[in-house]
Amino acid sequence: MKMERRVPRPAELAPLMSFKKFEPNGRARRLAKAHTIADLRAIAKRRTPQGAFDYTDGAAEAELSLARARQAFLDIEFHPAILRDVSSVDTSVEIAGGPSALPFGIAPTGFTRMMHAEGERAGASAARTAGIPFSLSTVGTTSPEGVREVNPDGRNWFQLYMQKDRDKSMDLVNRAAASGFDTLLVTVDVPVAGARLRDSYNGFTIPPQLTPKTVLNAIPRPEWWINFLTTEPLTFASLSEWQGTIGELLDALFDPTVDFDDLAWIRDQWPGQVFVKGIQTVADARKVMDLGVDGIVLSNHGGRQLDRAPIPFHLLPAVRKDLGNDAQIILDTGIMSGADIVAALAMGADFTLIGRAYLYGLMAGGREGVDRTIHILRTEITRTMKLLGVATTADLTPDHVTQLQRLTPRG
Ligand SMILES: Cc1cc2nc3c(=O)[nH]c(=O)nc-3n(C[C@H](O)[C@H](O)[C@H](O)COP(=O)(O)O)c2cc1C
Repeated sequence: MKMERRVPRPAELAPLMSFKKFEPNGRARRLAKAHTIADLRAIAKRRTPQGAFDYTDGAAEAELSLARARQAFLDIEFHPAILRDVSSVDTSVEIAGGPSALPFGIAPTGFTRMMHAEGERAGASAARTAGIPFSLSTVGTTSPEGVREVNPDGRNWFQLYMQKDRDKSMDLVNRAAASGFDTLLVTVDVPVAGARLRDSYNGFTIPPQLTPKTVLNAIPRPEWWINFLTTEPLTFASLSEWQGTIGELLDALFDPTVDFDDLAWIRDQWPGQVFVKGIQTVADARKVMDLGVDGIVLSNHGGRQLDRAPIPFHLLPAVRKDLGNDAQIILDTGIMSGADIVAALAMGADFTLIGRAYLYGLMAGGREGVDRTIHILRTEITRTMKLLGVATTADLTPDHVTQLQRLTPRG
């Protein structure tokens, strides 16, 4: 077919010639190219020494718990409702006695300053800006007071691993309470450390040891090393110093005798709400709720403990049915997108936590990287809700989601 042609006019060419403004800040330039959490993971991998990256990215044994949890989210089908007014959507929720602007918070993670020197301070200050809760781990690398300093008016949660030394455990819990932390997450899925095989193969220790392999690996990652060597040495909220593998450290710290009586005792020590993190059966969910805790976190620790553990997303409908509508249920493990979070809410979760999605952002670009993680998830949540025809998180129901059949238990 013959096309009519003409000479282009200068006024039409001008807009095509205007180049995108150059962003002089390398970090901002890098992060602007990340549009998914997987993009942040790719940047994180390029910029972080292999030991620290693999410690974060990896899981236990054959890493089936993590892979399956992620697959379960990939295997959902959404059912949108049409012709609803979604000109504005409200992504906020109430959880643990307070508000959160988004239906997710930052999960507790240990050794965070090893992923990036800005560590917990980056996470807590980003959480403050976004209006979401930040959780500090017992094996965090910033003190409760340090977290409070950067998130003085937002919500901070403290995660407890009951240590063999009870006084030391409670000392830390009391410091968190005195620093205004409003919620205690008691993690119960670490009677012993899971077998994180990538760490064994990498010979990963705290602090990182220099070997020919780590030196070679460091050459293309100068910023991490400069940050690591020119900031405060790693110290832990819960112990003064450590030399050895992370598994050895966890085993030396944790008390494998902790039982339901201890949980009841801890519940009575804490002034705010108490959630039990690491619930993996309906029966245990019921048992801890009967003990009088405020809620549970359905989680298999991001697949870092028992391999082939139950998939939290699959467990969710049965737990919600058993506990009823009033019980507070948080879900984590495997969340890599805002759509995963929307699906979890639709299937009965009140709230979710992100572990690696936050750490990939942190490793990709410190504080601004965590901002980018939150921005990506917020955008995905809002868009998914609009496409589903849902204007508030409370309007999400199981009717919006089908779990396609793969890896679902028989019978
Ligand atoms: C590097 C890393 C360190 C973690 N450290 C802790 C911890 O100290 N205490 C804890 O209760 N959970 C810890 N977790 C588990 C997270 O709180 C959360 O349950 C898990 O990361 C959720 O899965 P996701 O990473 O797929 O989001 C850690 C997870 C990662 C990835």
